[in-house]
Amino acid sequence: MTKHDDNPLWKALDKLALPTDPSKVAQEQEKTFQAGLHDKHPRSIAVVNYKGGVGKTTATFFLGAQIANDEPKKKVLIVDIDAQCSLTSVFGIDPTLTDDHNVLTLLTGGKAIKPTGIHREAYLRRGRYGGFPPNLYLLAGALEVEDLDFELAKEQKFTRPEFFAQCRRVLALFHNFDYIFVDCPPNKMLLTQGMLRACSNYLTVVIPDRVSAYGIPRLFRWVEDIPLADRPRLLGVLINRVIRSPSGITEVQQNSLAAIRATVSKHNPKCEKDRGIVGMWPNSNNVCKVYDEGKSHLGQSDIWETRSRQQAVGDCVRDTAVKILSVCK
Ligand SMILES: Nc1ncnc2c1ncn2[C@@H]1O[C@H](COP(=O)(O)OP(=O)(O)OP(=O)(O)O)[C@@H](O)[C@H]1O
Ligand SMILES: [Mg+2]
Repeated sequence: MTKHDDNPLWKALDKLALPTDPSKVAQEQEKTFQAGLHDKHPRSIAVVNYKGGVGKTTATFFLGAQIANDEPKKKVLIVDIDAQCSLTSVFGIDPTLTDDHNVLTLLTGGKAIKPTGIHREAYLRRGRYGGFPPNLYLLAGALEVEDLDFELAKEQKFTRPEFFAQCRRVLALFHNFDYIFVDCPPNKMLLTQGMLRACSNYLTVVIPDRVSAYGIPRLFRWVEDIPLADRPRLLGVLINRVIRSPSGITEVQQNSLAAIRATVSKHNPKCEKDRGIVGMWPNSNNVCKVYDEGKSHLGQSDIWETRSRQQAVGDCVRDTAVKILSVCK
């Protein structure tokens, strides 16, 4: 500790901090924005699988809330790029009532998009319901995202590479966040591709059943087709909806799990042993319940309790968050 820190007068003066100079704030914003265009945000994570209903939105929502809760001094942003707007809805926001302060407005805002021209705070939302950490923010989705590919093709506003650059510009606006999670839709549309390229990492959510396990090698190959300079690295695979009976995981799930593990290590030989699997979350009615009520798992006692031999959902989410924090430093 320095003498300065010991001095009670300095301590008191520190508390009376002068209001921040707006031009300095603007300069700082511009700097981080420019950096974000060249270097990706190191802790940006696309949550992706073109298979639907596997738990991508649940994972984005629960992990975002958990990390915000565990790291109260860090700012966490979750971004909804799915036309279904599930993430926006579970956050308690009506996607039709965002006054166009949503991801689509930013994406279609033209190439001149800059932090100085955009009131970023207007785009950031806090959860409407209780139990949400105050440092967890949402960039809301828009139903019209559905037509984006068609509109882009029709208007020829952006070429493909230009649109991918635009996705980067949008994320760069929020470079002052410590963690950014992008909840991707179950498709390979340009927006999904653009955001995948704009993120440093990707996390895949999989249900250990035959159909999902088949899709995983294809998903990895799809990402591997992205040129190296833009390609995100695999943060890991989250196995969701694991069914455990007193006699253990079912045989079908065990086989699928073995297939998924083999695929992960084949495509990512550098992954340390088991690092590829960032969690095994149980199948639990409590997950549907809190998700449908628009609550995060935090503060929901049911989610932290376990009645059978399986680990409680809350503990699983926390373990996965710890793994992500350790990999995404
Ligand atoms: N571990 C779980 N146990 C039980 N139900 C779950 C679990 N995880 C997710 N669900 C339920 O499965 C449904 C689909 O989840 P979610 O919306 O997160 O999937 P998704 O992959 O985002 O779907 P989409 O591909 O449509 O975006 C939801 O009703 C959710 O509550
Ligand atoms: Mg979803």
